[in-house]
Amino acid sequence: MSRIAYVNGHYLPHAHASVHIEDRGYQFADGVYEVVALYKGIILDEIGHLERLERSLNALRIKPPVTLPVLRLLIREIQRRNLLQTGLIYLQITRGVATRFHPFPDPPVPSSLIITAKHMKLPNDAIVQKGVSVITIPEMRWPRCDIKSISLLPNILAKQEAIDKGAYESWFLDAEGFVTEGTATNAWIVNEKGCIQTRPTNENILSGITRKTILDVAKDLGIPFVEKPFNTHDAEHAQEAFITSATNYVMPVTTINKKPVGKGVAGPISIQLRHAYLEKMVAENAE
Ligand SMILES: Cc1ncc(COP(=O)(O)O)c(C=O)c1O
Repeated sequence: MSRIAYVNGHYLPHAHASVHIEDRGYQFADGVYEVVALYKGIILDEIGHLERLERSLNALRIKPPVTLPVLRLLIREIQRRNLLQTGLIYLQITRGVATRFHPFPDPPVPSSLIITAKHMKLPNDAIVQKGVSVITIPEMRWPRCDIKSISLLPNILAKQEAIDKGAYESWFLDAEGFVTEGTATNAWIVNEKGCIQTRPTNENILSGITRKTILDVAKDLGIPFVEKPFNTHDAEHAQEAFITSATNYVMPVTTINKKPVGKGVAGPISIQLRHAYLEKMVAENAE
């Protein structure tokens, strides 16, 4: 079955779905995006993602192309047309098509909206148990990482550096050596006291939707947590480490800069959180 994409009001086969060469997203990365995961047909944390999309649009003064209820309908239609059960839906909104000129188009032009769907295989238990490797790299992004902008060059370079070094993800380090976040994930440890630790949100990191749900899950499970920055030394001496994102859910980190974290295998708290997260999503969907 061929993939179907939504482009500015039209449903098109993926291979024929395209945008104008003067779309400001294409020329300036002048736009925002969201990735919403689907698990066995359930759309995970949809409202959180759509509210963050609204915040990103507001921050960049881009007019929403459709209302939130319409966006929810479009997501379901793309899910239906692609027979999507487990995978992701990608939404991208840009400031629209205009002759290339840095200021906002005047008069304004309609913003562009594309939505695509991608099937994903769930990693099996052995892969999750093995966990992933992380390297650390100096922060090189702009000071508004809270906006989910499509301008991702530093994230791409950092992710490629991880791949080149045989790792899965890079964690950015701020000027004081504290971990900000990953290229597409939030960063966590279970510290020496057995307390879950992650950096508080501000303009230096993306306020992860999965991050927020995991804090709720930890509260429900009675697992202590603290929102406090940690550095590489803390991470290398932690009992466990993990990353969170819409598509990774909770993924254990078992080496940092080639050094094993804890016993070098997925830790029990990371695994417990992963399962509890998915259980919560399924339960909320059944309500
Ligand atoms: C830089 C960055 N941090 C964190 C995340 C995790 O956010 P979420 O849990 O909302 O997917 C992402 C997701 O794409 C990201 O790009």
